[in-house]
Amino acid sequence: MPHRLDDLIDDAPGRPDLDFVFTKQHRRFAEFADACRRERYIGVCYGPPGVGKTLSARQYTRWDEIGDWLAGGWMQPGDRGPDALDDAHSVLWTPTVTVTPRQLDQQVPILCRRFSAVVSQHRDPDGAGPGRFTRDMWNVQLLIVDEADRLKPGGLEQLRDYFDRHPIGLILIGMPGLEKRLARYPQLYSRVGFAHRYEPLSADELRFVLTHHWQRLGLTLSAEDFTDTEAVAAVARITNGNFRLVQRLFAQITRILDINQLTTVTSEVVQAARDALVIGQP
Ligand SMILES: Nc1ncnc2c1ncn2[C@@H]1O[C@H](COP(=O)(O)OP(=O)(O)OP(=O)(O)O)[C@@H](O)[C@H]1O
Ligand SMILES: [Mg+2]
Repeated sequence: MPHRLDDLIDDAPGRPDLDFVFTKQHRRFAEFADACRRERYIGVCYGPPGVGKTLSARQYTRWDEIGDWLAGGWMQPGDRGPDALDDAHSVLWTPTVTVTPRQLDQQVPILCRRFSAVVSQHRDPDGAGPGRFTRDMWNVQLLIVDEADRLKPGGLEQLRDYFDRHPIGLILIGMPGLEKRLARYPQLYSRVGFAHRYEPLSADELRFVLTHHWQRLGLTLSAEDFTDTEAVAAVARITNGNFRLVQRLFAQITRILDINQLTTVTSEVVQAARDALVIGQP
């Protein structure tokens, strides 16, 4: 049954084991998304694997709260749902690897309507309730499509058509190269207002993230401490600011500290952690 709602809303992929960090990249993404939403343009966001594109989109749409709620079955009259619905305006959809244009044509409209109905009911819990969907219940300002590389020409055309028929902005998220691939579809491409490159963490941001990690280990990262500085440099060299790699490396660092009953993260510990990792080139 391709149009059952709980099939449309995936479990949170790559849910962070660290609280969400509001990086500069995330702020830039949010500004970009605001612009696409305001201007009702199509935007393309591209960046290498693991830099944080999906997490930014989930944070922007508050999908951890709203997606879970949408997947949880029909609302009863009087249900208000999570507070995140107060000012909710954007929907996140992730196609499956094998998505067909036909599935897209079912899934996206259902998701947008259901979201709209839930937002309406949240704002007016004593109203008539979702019942039949009507035009004035429309509450979607922006549709974000993650993993847009999975869409074939027919799917892209379908999305372009959906975009034309609804008052929404649209963001396609994918790997570098997506923006070039879209240039092959003149109709879609002529509607692209913004392209946004999602970058890895800068040196300062990496330090900021590492400070959190050190704290979680009960340690304090100090700029004056040579051992710390060396360890940070080792993490920077190994990860190139790739967020996913930082998280994976730290899981190994924690393990190595535990096994060896160590209390200091040295560059040797970082190197040992790196050796324990299989690192694909991001
Ligand atoms: N802002 C953030 N705060 C905390 N952790 C983050 C943040 N951004 C990314 N991460 C960490 O990096 C991992 C990868 O992030 P994410 O899945 O968003 O990358 P992506 O760019 O979507 O990668 P892909 O192209 O492979 O889909 C997350 O699972 C999380 O551990
Ligand atoms: Mg992703």
